[in-house]
Amino acid sequence: MSILVTGGAGFIGSHTCLNLLESGYDVFVLDSFVNSSPESLARVKSICEKDKKPKRDLHVFKGDLRNASILKDIFTKANEINKKIDGVIHFAGLKSVKESVEKPILYWDANVGSTINLLNVMQSFDCSTIVFSSSATIYGRSSKTKLKENFKLKPINPYGSTKMVIEKLLNDLFVNYSGSWRVANLRYFNPIGAHESGLIGENPKGIPNNIFPFLTNVAAGNLEELRIFGKNWPTIDGTGERDYVHVMDLAEGHVKTLEFLINNGPQCLSMNLGTGKGTSVLQLLNIFEESNSLKIPHTFVERRSGDVARLVADNSLLKSLLNWYPKRTLNQMCKDGWRWQVNNPRGY
Ligand code: NAD
Ligand code: WQD
Repeated sequence: MSILVTGGAGFIGSHTCLNLLESGYDVFVLDSFVNSSPESLARVKSICEKDKKPKRDLHVFKGDLRNASILKDIFTKANEINKKIDGVIHFAGLKSVKESVEKPILYWDANVGSTINLLNVMQSFDCSTIVFSSSATIYGRSSKTKLKENFKLKPINPYGSTKMVIEKLLNDLFVNYSGSWRVANLRYFNPIGAHESGLIGENPKGIPNNIFPFLTNVAAGNLEELRIFGKNWPTIDGTGERDYVHVMDLAEGHVKTLEFLINNGPQCLSMNLGTGKGTSVLQLLNIFEESNSLKIPHTFVERRSGDVARLVADNSLLKSLLNWYPKRTLNQMCKDGWRWQVNNPRGY
């Protein structure tokens, strides 16, 4: 079977491509490299080559998802070599909350515009299976209880709005095309860590916004100290609580979800992809220090605008449908993420 992975060179995409190839799928990637490097996919290939498993093909195309002709070329090429694309995992998009507030039109165009283009081309090539990268950010507000998929959606920034509207668009396709579409909206929580080889990992441009790459850069001495945003949140120790999930579990979750759609017929599913376990910033810091025998200089500063106290997944739907759940521990996330940083001090 062949799968098109949009944004496959990115952080989550590259780990998922590896898992797809190792699970026996041929993979076609379309990526503009606006936020990634082709080197990530070269490394995916080299990890596969070291494995003894039967090799599948990885085809990489450089281009923007808003460009219909390159998309059509990929589907056509796949047909010509008898590798018809059976499904799409759709990661491509912009993901900075801060930038989305500054440039909402760019975000609507890059995320929603590109998805409309993708869906049009998929339809014309009779491909109607899609796993979409949604985000816990669409829930918008903090919750004392774990977040369930049927909670009210209320995104508080343009990035979150684009994710919510794409979910709605995909639901409209399922409802209005007599149930031919197989759709899964995966709402990720906080993916961290890296592949255990230390060859692929997260490679943010400039100073990282997210806590984990910030932490590894402080540990490496590239940044002076971790600034903890707020110490009076209504959480266990006053610092923000999140549901951190190992990126390889996230990758595995995509392949399991894809297989669930293939085996279970047309539907439109929205599902949390998290561990169901909350961890505060101070707890994460302590586990990182202990796992890697390091000390991280840190200081407390004001709350960050737009932050919420707690975002933790109720992952019971995932467990019951897929008969699978993320199993890697925070200790593994911290060890694997630090190995990637040490082995690649300047990224790719
Ligand atoms: P990433 O930026 O590393 O990967 C996205 C990839 O898409 C990059 O390789 C980028 O070059 C590519 N891309 C962007 N716009 C494109 C376009 N118009 N055409 C072709 N390629 C394009 O991000 P990631 O962390 O791997 O996230 C992947 C997806 O998951 C994104 O849609 C993101 O919104 C979503 N998501 C990420 C997180 C997270 O914390 N990392 C959480 C929830 C959801
Ligand atoms: C985690 C915790 C911060 C940095 C973001 C996006 C979300 C999703 C995942 C894409 C919070 C604290 C952080 C720092 C800190 N991405 N923190 N010092 O905000 O949960 O989610 O990434 O969909 O949409 O909003 O992740 O890693 O930025 O923050 O104290 O330097 O760490 O306050 O409690 P967040 P994060």
